[in-house]
Amino acid sequence: MTLRPILIHPDPRLKKVADPVARITPEVETLAADMLATMYDAPGVGLAAPQIGVNLRVFVMDATKEPDAPPRPMVLVNPEIDWVSEMLNTYEEGCLSIPEQYGEVTRPKQVRLRWLGLDGAQHSEEFDGLWATCAQHELDHLNGILFIDHLSAIRRQMITRKMVKLKRDRARA
Ligand code: NI
Repeated sequence: MTLRPILIHPDPRLKKVADPVARITPEVETLAADMLATMYDAPGVGLAAPQIGVNLRVFVMDATKEPDAPPRPMVLVNPEIDWVSEMLNTYEEGCLSIPEQYGEVTRPKQVRLRWLGLDGAQHSEEFDGLWATCAQHELDHLNGILFIDHLSAIRRQMITRKMVKLKRDRARA
């Protein structure tokens, strides 16, 4: 497994619509393993392939909250939303591509997703709470949407300016 560098906003690669995966290959398996390792190392609860510069519809997540619960690493290839609840939920979201910036985003409280697993089979599951928020946040990444796109323009510009400065400081260091 290889830890992959995570792209920091603003970056044109984070704004693209990602391409579907044609079929599960060893390359896709390696990509998924690298993404999970990179996510746990960050640490984060989700990571989408475009965040490491791979323009494919793949994301990983593990929104297990209880510290003593076993991890539940999930890999979702070509995920689609089948259903969302009318009930909404507001979470303070963050993103590994927008370090140390947070904002409240309101999304459906529950979602049912359908995706291709690494086993080559179609999977379907209903997610709730943090899992549902995480899944929608990661699915957004596959469509070039960041959580700050759900915030006010003023807040989004403020965060973007901070990220431009962060990238400049990192490039100098
Ligand atoms: Ni994110």
